[in-house]
Amino acid sequence: MSSNIESVLVENRVFPPPEAVVKAARISGMAGYEALCREAEQDFEGFWARLARENVVWNKPFSRVLDESNAPFYKWFDDGELNASANCLDKHMGTPTENKAAIVFEADDGKVTTVTFKELLARVSQFANALKAQGIKKGDRVIVYMPMTIEGVIAMQACARIGATHSVVFGGFSAKALNERIIDAGAVAVITANFQMRGGKELPLKSIVDEGIAMGGCECIKSVLVFQRTATPCNMVAGRDKTFDEVLQGQSTTCAPEPVGAEHPLFILYTSGSTGKPKGVQHATGGYLLWANLTMQWTFDVKPSDVFWCTADIGWITGHTYVAYGPLAAGVTQVVFEGIPTYPNAGRFWQMIEKHKVTIFYTAPTAIRSLIKAADSDEKVHPKNWDLSSLRILGSVGEPINPEAWMWYHRHVGGERCPIVDTFWQTETGGHMITPLPGATPLVPGSCTLPLPGIMAAIVDEAGHDVPNGAGGILVVKRPWPSMIRTIWNDPERFKKSYFPEELKGLYLAGDGAVRSADRGYFRITGRIDDVLNVSGHRMGTMEIESALVAKTDLVAEAAVVGRPDDLTGEAICAFVVLKRPRPTGEEAKQIANELRNWVAKEIGPIAKPKDIRFGDNLPKTRSGKIMRRLLRSIAKGEAITQDTSTLENPAILEQLAQTN
Ligand code: WTA
Repeated sequence: MSSNIESVLVENRVFPPPEAVVKAARISGMAGYEALCREAEQDFEGFWARLARENVVWNKPFSRVLDESNAPFYKWFDDGELNASANCLDKHMGTPTENKAAIVFEADDGKVTTVTFKELLARVSQFANALKAQGIKKGDRVIVYMPMTIEGVIAMQACARIGATHSVVFGGFSAKALNERIIDAGAVAVITANFQMRGGKELPLKSIVDEGIAMGGCECIKSVLVFQRTATPCNMVAGRDKTFDEVLQGQSTTCAPEPVGAEHPLFILYTSGSTGKPKGVQHATGGYLLWANLTMQWTFDVKPSDVFWCTADIGWITGHTYVAYGPLAAGVTQVVFEGIPTYPNAGRFWQMIEKHKVTIFYTAPTAIRSLIKAADSDEKVHPKNWDLSSLRILGSVGEPINPEAWMWYHRHVGGERCPIVDTFWQTETGGHMITPLPGATPLVPGSCTLPLPGIMAAIVDEAGHDVPNGAGGILVVKRPWPSMIRTIWNDPERFKKSYFPEELKGLYLAGDGAVRSADRGYFRITGRIDDVLNVSGHRMGTMEIESALVAKTDLVAEAAVVGRPDDLTGEAICAFVVLKRPRPTGEEAKQIANELRNWVAKEIGPIAKPKDIRFGDNLPKTRSGKIMRRLLRSIAKGEAITQDTSTLENPAILEQLAQTN
């Protein structure tokens, strides 16, 4: 996206928040923001303690705020006790919120189902009782492999209610990916559905669970609970598999929430790193819940009358914090959507905003870019065809938003009146880190602006020294924060090495490059500095895709994967492959490339399919045998090689790889 980066570099448009928004906002004006930042700087622990007392319901109050004795394994509020589900549901009972819609669910086919907070509490409680009846208890791990549905949220909330740790696996991941996660987490149960509906198609989930378990090593799984999303029957294994209807039968709709320690693992969510298998990012209950609730109030400035819509799937961190927990904790009505933005046509999002009178809309740049493209080629799906006047705040997440997409979002969706919060954060951070505040921060397209109060983000060089504004560097966080990753499940050493490398002396390494503007000190994220790709806002490790390719042992000798900029998906996956047979060309090359794409889809999931596959007799290597990825990145981009290639063992290969398509 080099042209976009250039346009950000010359970006000088500034959009101050409208006066009326500033007046009504919880954090009002830059003075309001700065006052909170000052409070955090002057009394760091006092600041967090105040917020944790005000925004979390504790069964047992905490007396300790931050325990740094075993850094970087930080503990927050650790002698306090709470329950996450009680903080999302029970807390609203007896208040005007109880009879308000908690979830307005729109199915793929447009059918709408609404549940109030009170009804949701009853359904979560009943499902929690069903989990207990299956022998699932506090501390057990439960895999959730569900479509975007009310039942998906219920599954997560019910786990939290009994103190079981959920690990949601995105419904687009393969049987193999599921198998690896079940084994790593040592899960006792899988909660799934027979099928999911996406874009008018019925896609299997349960058969993938069966396949994943059959791959072996899953003896830990005692039960599989199946939500019947569609009428089509699925295979049921006697003794192991039960439908939701069966397990809910006769269960009471009240269930006392199980108090857990603040550090109790609420969930594990697997995400890609630069090396090896996906990491099980472990989050704690207390600090995470505080941040889910507080960022709803700070970043989205939610009011009781809002209708909030975050389009992320519950399989990703955004769907955890801003679908399954945040909106419920904040007591706001939210829209949950099962389908895809382009079905039945690319006007679906705009139509839904009009229909449900959405006031806060939170989506990913990749979706915006694809809808811009659709609107450009078909007037009928342009947002101007719908009444979007209910909107008051827009959000962006998952990848850098290019100023062109930002301006279109601002103009055509936000009617030039809605602040856009470009929220930078990660699976590991639990919630927003660097983001504008709608009633305070003047906006600059393409910039996530400033860190939230209490978040000590900075840009440093490789030795951990601060760099001046205007100079790029490595994005770090200097002090711990309540919703941070606690460890990598089963691998504390990898946690330390990945996020707190020795050379940075205790600073949290985000894995992104960033630069602060010379004038305002605003942050702009320049992209990952490791071997992690961001394709349509989905995180993927190049190593993971390489291992999947070389696992096709009958065909592939060697593979190297790099990212290249893509106008629609941000980055695209480009694989360079050496086969165990002569280099294919023409039709044969196309056919083998397709075979490999399908193979990767089976190994990881369709989202990991390489867009380009190029075949070579060899890969560019140094004399010591190291693959020169830098060169591969240039070739993938179609750039002329200007780098020094004198250390290459086989310089002629560059020409061959550049030719292949
Ligand atoms: C990228 C998603 C620029 C970044 C919440 C980060 C962003 C990775 C933004 C985390 C943003 C996320 N601007 N880049 N507003 N938000 N990223 O774990 O590279 O799926 O490290 O969490 O997405 O992806 P993850």
